[in-house]
Amino acid sequence: MSFRIVSTGSFVPPKVVTNEELTTFLDTSDEWITERTGVKERRVATTETAATMGVEAGRRALEAAGMTPDQLDMILCATISGEYVSPGVACLIQAGLGAACPAFDISAACSGYIYALDTAAGFFARNRVKNMLVIGAEQISRLLDWTDRNTAVIFGDGAGACLLEAGDNYITSKLFSRGGADVIQIPTSIGNSPFFEKEQVKPLIHMKGQETFRFAVGAMAQDIQDVLEQAGIDPADVDHVVPHQANIRIIDAARKRLNIKPECYASNIDRYGNTSAASVPLVLDELNRAGKLNRGDIVVLAAFGGGLSSGACVIRW
Ligand code: UT7
Repeated sequence: MSFRIVSTGSFVPPKVVTNEELTTFLDTSDEWITERTGVKERRVATTETAATMGVEAGRRALEAAGMTPDQLDMILCATISGEYVSPGVACLIQAGLGAACPAFDISAACSGYIYALDTAAGFFARNRVKNMLVIGAEQISRLLDWTDRNTAVIFGDGAGACLLEAGDNYITSKLFSRGGADVIQIPTSIGNSPFFEKEQVKPLIHMKGQETFRFAVGAMAQDIQDVLEQAGIDPADVDHVVPHQANIRIIDAARKRLNIKPECYASNIDRYGNTSAASVPLVLDELNRAGKLNRGDIVVLAAFGGGLSSGACVIRW
């Protein structure tokens, strides 16, 4: 027993920041950002937080299924950008929705949503839950160094959610980690211990872009190939690939290495940029609400990011 996705929801802040607007305070251009990343604009929180966006995405998924928060048995939130180290974002979402179930966060950076779905599958397998909300919610803008053109131009804020119920539609998955803080790191505050001797590194995103890019292409292509092999599914039979939206060139490079029909790859990076753990469920909700997902479709989700980490899974819609 695993799960099936009953409904989806998402939320993005109304504030649109175009590439043009970034050129007013960064040494960059719309042409460079568009060509090198595929991003044209992103949404940026002004008053929203990962938790408030997660509440709205979750509420929309519940509404789409005609369910109420009291019917939830668990809430998971994939995130790295909560307001607090504790409470976790999932606990704030639980309070915001008025649910009474256990809630906790999954921290696996941009791969987080894949890890959260796989964690959810375990609770279903052990018959511990009937209905579960799995949310990806990120306010990455609070972690960005807005003076660093290497990172400030690619990220955005948002949240996406799936409501899961017991079923057999989660076919297989793969999770991968290559641990270390050398390629991507986001330090937390070192506090004010009079004993600690290391210096504070700015508590913002530090990323080696090219190394991340190389890891991302290799990991995504390999993970997708591996899960399809595990599932015994021919790449030609895949209906949709929902890749993490980090850079359109990463998606294009992975596409060239796989024998999946090119039109199967979904993307909204032009409008939202890289929303970290929210990016996969944001795309999924867009496809779902556009009526593009038909029952029985083979859907592959894949993501990669800080950790370094990556993962993929196969779902029968
Ligand atoms: O989701 C989490 C995982 N994150 C990722 O997957 C991100 C993966 N990495 C990337 O997407 C790309 O590496 C970036 C978009 C971050 C950078 O693109 P790139 O094509 O790898 O650029 P680069 O770092 O090789 O830089 C090429 C040039 C440099 O100039 P010089 O040294 O050749 O004169 C940079 O200084 O482009 C310059 N540059 C920029 N120019 C204008 C770097 N960023 C910018 C910018 N605008 N925003």
